[in-house]
Amino acid sequence: GPTLLVDQFQRRITYLRLSVTDRCDLRCAYCMPERMTFLPRKDVLSLEELHDLALGFIARGITKIRLTGGEPLVRRDMMELVRALGRKVGDGLDELTMTTNGTRLAEFAEDLFAAGVRRINVSLDTLDRDRFVRLARRDSLAQVLEGLAAARAVGLRVKLNTVALKGINEDELPEIVAWAHGQGFEATLIEVMPLGEIEEDRFDHYLPLSAVRDRLERRWTLTESEHRSGGPARYVDVAETGGRLGLITPLTNNFCEGCNRIRVTATGQLYACLGGNEQVDLRAALRSDDPQGRLDAALDLAMRIKPARHHFAIDGHGQAPALSRHMSMTGG
Ligand code: GTP
Ligand code: 5AD
Ligand code: SF4
Repeated sequence: GPTLLVDQFQRRITYLRLSVTDRCDLRCAYCMPERMTFLPRKDVLSLEELHDLALGFIARGITKIRLTGGEPLVRRDMMELVRALGRKVGDGLDELTMTTNGTRLAEFAEDLFAAGVRRINVSLDTLDRDRFVRLARRDSLAQVLEGLAAARAVGLRVKLNTVALKGINEDELPEIVAWAHGQGFEATLIEVMPLGEIEEDRFDHYLPLSAVRDRLERRWTLTESEHRSGGPARYVDVAETGGRLGLITPLTNNFCEGCNRIRVTATGQLYACLGGNEQVDLRAALRSDDPQGRLDAALDLAMRIKPARHHFAIDGHGQAPALSRHMSMTGG
């Protein structure tokens, strides 16, 4: 049968992050500029292409698919894809999941659960309305909170993703974690990564999570957890809240050795690493006269070029970002 995906460093690739759109209804300041240029729609993979692509990956041993964006739920035919891939859960896929900003969750939570999604990650960097408006440049906090409540009500497990930003939400991080745990959500803190041009210098707001952790430890008892989600996060248990806290620290500590993932943009570009430019054009394969054969060859190539590790560095201070593409291209 078809061979599994194993890279040149003998890492088994089982996790696909599939971006379904580069568009987003928010404009988080650390992620994109206010006047972001989005891709022309004709360049974006059709629903059918996304579906064929996902099946091609499942045939090669991908067991977890995370749908990302931009914001996945702004794509009109999104639920159709979720329903189709949901049928593969238990039949090739162990997990179908999504990373969303939550603005449309109130509308879609029930359908997601019905399609077979059990767990979602939701981005939320502040619980304060004015701050949200400044950070995300849209007045959507109430919608996100409604979405989170809806997700909880239908039984979706939720993990909150919070980017730690010096002088912006630094003082609020303990409160966000406490709030998340109180809601029965997991919480994850993320170091801001140098991806794509924005208006300001990201390093003005760069906050190493080691500093955040010191501060949390003045208030709480944190113990290392053995838990692994298959992602870059390392976890601690918080005794006082009874909840779990993930820490994603690509700049101060990378976890590339155990990397199990690749990512595909909405235009069908496979990026072998979030922090690199190694790229394979899957759209060309899909649109050729031998989609199956060309796709398999493209995936074999991806396994040969996946780098050992990313090259993010904190010394990018005052310079152009490490990579010109935004996180919203690759979905993280
Ligand atoms: P689970 O562990 O499955 O819950 O998900 P995840 O943490 O891998 O995914 P999520 O979409 O919630 O991403 C959280 C953060 O991790 C985002 O900031 C992503 O950009 C970042 N991230 C995702 N993949 C990688 C990676 O390969 N390397 C690094 N350094 N960061 C990543
Ligand atoms: N650095 C770190 N995290 C980022 N995200 C978007 N851009 C960046 C960046 N430059 C986060 C979002 C979301 C996740 C997919 O990535 O907040 O939680
Ligand atoms: Fe893997 Fe690259 Fe992510 Fe490191 S940065 S964990 S090598 S995809």
